[in-house]
Amino acid sequence: MNVKKGVRGHMEQLVITGQKTLSGEVFISGAKNAVVAVIPAAIMAKGKSVIENLPSIEDVTSLVDTLKNIGAKCEFTKDNALIIDSSEVNKYCATYESVKKIRASYYLMGAFLGRFKRAEVAMPGGCNFGTRPIDQHLRGFKALGADYTIQHGVVKLFAEKLVGCHIYLDMPSVGATINIMLAASMAEGTTIIENAAKEPHIVDTANFLNMLGAKVKGAGTDVIKITGVDELHGAEYMIIPDQIEAGTYMIAAAMTGGDVVVKNVIPKHMDPLSAKLQEMGCMIYEGDDSIRVVSTGNLNPTTVKTMAYPGFPTDLQPQMTALLCAANGTSILTENVWDNRFQYINELKRLGGHITVEGRVAVVEGVKQLMGAEVNATDLRAGAALVIAGLAAKGVTTIGNVKYIDRGYEKIEHKFQAIGADIRRVKTIS
Ligand code: EPZ
Repeated sequence: MNVKKGVRGHMEQLVITGQKTLSGEVFISGAKNAVVAVIPAAIMAKGKSVIENLPSIEDVTSLVDTLKNIGAKCEFTKDNALIIDSSEVNKYCATYESVKKIRASYYLMGAFLGRFKRAEVAMPGGCNFGTRPIDQHLRGFKALGADYTIQHGVVKLFAEKLVGCHIYLDMPSVGATINIMLAASMAEGTTIIENAAKEPHIVDTANFLNMLGAKVKGAGTDVIKITGVDELHGAEYMIIPDQIEAGTYMIAAAMTGGDVVVKNVIPKHMDPLSAKLQEMGCMIYEGDDSIRVVSTGNLNPTTVKTMAYPGFPTDLQPQMTALLCAANGTSILTENVWDNRFQYINELKRLGGHITVEGRVAVVEGVKQLMGAEVNATDLRAGAALVIAGLAAKGVTTIGNVKYIDRGYEKIEHKFQAIGADIRRVKTIS
């Protein structure tokens, strides 16, 4: 790698002056975890698709760059839509260079396998919390009739043909459910996925596949039935709102004793968090596509257990831990989905959090006042948790590794400024 001597890079930081009460309206963008599945799905169709309500986040740009490398014509429109013409797509390879920044690149395996019966995709990169295996994905592909090898970090899949089958997942894996759904959409015959994950972004991907001409039934339940078709055509589709972005702003409102309306949401998707915030003493008012969170800042301690949907989402676990630091008493949070999603806790402790971690359990003692400090995001949602803590801390908090946050949050500083936060993005010379 030719690093020029003496040329220093630019790093970005978020600088927050805390203790501002948040109030006003924040508009939620399209769901990151839906769009990173829908974009690969679009290349299964021979034709043009238009994907609307696209969040402008790094993961989307990384994926679109990859699609351009394999011959897809991609064009962003001014009203945050993406036009993908995949008629000319003629490659089924995604190198490490093009996929290393985004874990969800593994959806290219199911999409390439579906359309080309072949796939060569580098193993996923992405956030660094715990091991992130793909054995259930590969098990599903094998059950559909594909063989694979893993050489030099690249998964090579090949199938004479894909034949529908009956797959029982060992755990309700979001990625495996979606990846198998993609490949099975163009298999011969019917595939049943049991113990399927039920997250909103799985339903969104299934709805998009059906717009392309696939036949997917039961998404959102733990049994999904896919009847394979020979060809898929382009379609227009609007991505659902981002459940995790919405939850992040709801928790920030609770943390600062604020009064915030999150707009463009599906209230049902927020149920597990809304229930917890009410338990902690917040008032929650639901509209058709909005949720208002009113907090006195006086928060009761509680217990939180992360689970697959419709349980409490693991992707709101770091943000919730930050909130529990401000509760009047001791809370217990158990991470049941990932085996090591507490790496950010040391950063929260630098802000004054009193937290002890034993395996998958974090014991959080509420403190009177968090204090500003210099911290670094260890991954996407950890970064969001540090922003939330910084908003309540006394004094100034600077957050490094903002690139992690930009992977999943569109214009985070602008959205927080619009509801009263004193937050800005600064460039530093590294
Ligand atoms: C998706 O990851 C999300 N990412 C994650 O969000 C989210 O935390 C996770 O689902 C759980 O909701 C995207 O959608 C791009 P899993 P995924 O397969 O699909 C184990 C964010 O912040 N497992 O549901 O990789 C795994 O180790 C990101 O937006 C296997 O053992 O998660 C974990 O313990 C972070 N073998 C559990 O299942 C497999 O083959 C759940 O993983 C697959 C998973």
